[in-house]
Amino acid sequence: MDDIIWMGNQPSVKELAKEVGIEKSYPFSKLKDLISSAIKAKRKVHFNPPYRYDNMMLLEELTGIKAAVTKEYASIELINAIVSLRSTKEACEIEEIDKACNIGYEMHTTAMRLCKPGVVEQYIAGVLDGIASSYGCMVSFPTILTQNGQTLHNHYHGNILDKGRMMLTDAGAERVSNYCSDHTRTVPVGGKFDSRQKDVYNIVLACHDKALELAKPGVTYMSVHLEVCKVLAQGLKEIGLMKGNVEEAVAAGAHALFLPHGLGHMMGLDVHDMEDLGQIHVGYDDKVRPSTQFGLSALRMGRELQEGFVITDEPGCYFIPALIDNWRGDKMHTDFLCYDKIEKFKEFGGIRIEDDILITPNGSRFTGEKRIPLTVSEIEDIMSI
Ligand code: GLY
Ligand code: MN
Repeated sequence: MDDIIWMGNQPSVKELAKEVGIEKSYPFSKLKDLISSAIKAKRKVHFNPPYRYDNMMLLEELTGIKAAVTKEYASIELINAIVSLRSTKEACEIEEIDKACNIGYEMHTTAMRLCKPGVVEQYIAGVLDGIASSYGCMVSFPTILTQNGQTLHNHYHGNILDKGRMMLTDAGAERVSNYCSDHTRTVPVGGKFDSRQKDVYNIVLACHDKALELAKPGVTYMSVHLEVCKVLAQGLKEIGLMKGNVEEAVAAGAHALFLPHGLGHMMGLDVHDMEDLGQIHVGYDDKVRPSTQFGLSALRMGRELQEGFVITDEPGCYFIPALIDNWRGDKMHTDFLCYDKIEKFKEFGGIRIEDDILITPNGSRFTGEKRIPLTVSEIEDIMSI
C-alpha cells in the first residue's frame, strides 16, 4: 500500500520479467541455495566481471569468493559468449541506434547554433541534456562540451566562449532501450573558422574520411587506425608541424603527440559497448593484440571488423601544452616533430570529429537518418542561420 500511495501502481517483477522475454523465473530468495548446491556438485558457476560494489558483495555471499577478487574469477566463456552475441547487431538494434543518432543530430545542430561568443559552455551543455530528456532519454555519457578541446574528456563547462576559440562537443543520447549515440563535432566560436583552424580541421576530416573508406568486413580496426595516423602525419607535415618519413614517424609513434587516443570503440547497449567485460575481450582477438606504444595503447578496438558491428570513427588532433613541454624536454622524436612551430599552437586547443558507423557487407554507413554537418562549409552554413 505504501508503494501505491507514493508511486502509484507499479508493475510486478514477474510482469517486468515477461516484458523482457524471461519466461521461467526463479525466486531470488532461493538463489543462494541453488548456487550452494551447484558448488557442492563441483559445477562451475559462471558470472560476469562485476563493476558495482553491491554486486561484488552479493557474489561474495553467493560464491564465497572475496568481493575484492571476484573480478579475477569472472567466466571467460561467459564473457566471450556475450561479446559474440552483442558485437553483431540485429536489425532491431540498428533501428534503436539510428533513433538515438537522430536525437544526437538535434543535440549537435543545436549546439552549433548556440555557439556564440559570450555564451557559457554550461548553458549549451544543459540544453543538450534537455533535448535528450525531452525524448524520454538520457545523455549516453556526461557531455563533453568545451573550448579546451585539447583535454580529451573535459567535463568542465564553466568557460565563457571566446571568439577565436573552437568549441568541441562530444555528446549523445541513450534511449530507454539503452542503445546509444556518440558524436563529436568541433566548431568555431562565432561561426567562421580562421585559416589555421581550417587547415587542422581538414586534416582531421581527411582522417575521418580515410577510416570510412577503409572500414569493411575482414579489415582490422588496428590497421585502419594506423592508416589514419599516416593521413594525420602527412597533413601535419604539409603545414610544417611534422617532418621526415611519414611511415617511419607513425611506426615510431611520433604522431601520438597530437593523437594520444584510439580511432574508436564498439557502440551499442553502452556507449563504450561491453567495456565492463574487459576491453581485451571486446576489442582484440587472437590475431590482433594490444600495443604498449603511447597512443596506440589507448586503442579500444583493434580487431577484425565484421558485418553488423557498430563502431565509432573518431580521429582528433590536439595540442596539449603539458605533453608538448614533456616531450620537448625529453627530446622525443626530434627527427619527426618540429617543436618550434608546434610551440606556436599551444593555445590552439583540440579538434575531434566522431561519427558512429555500421559495418555493411562491403563497407560502412553512418548511423542515423541525417549526417550531422561535417565539412567546413556545412558547419559555417548552419552556424550562420
Ligand atoms: N564519446 C566519449 C568517448 O568515446 O570516450
Ligand atoms: Mn566515442
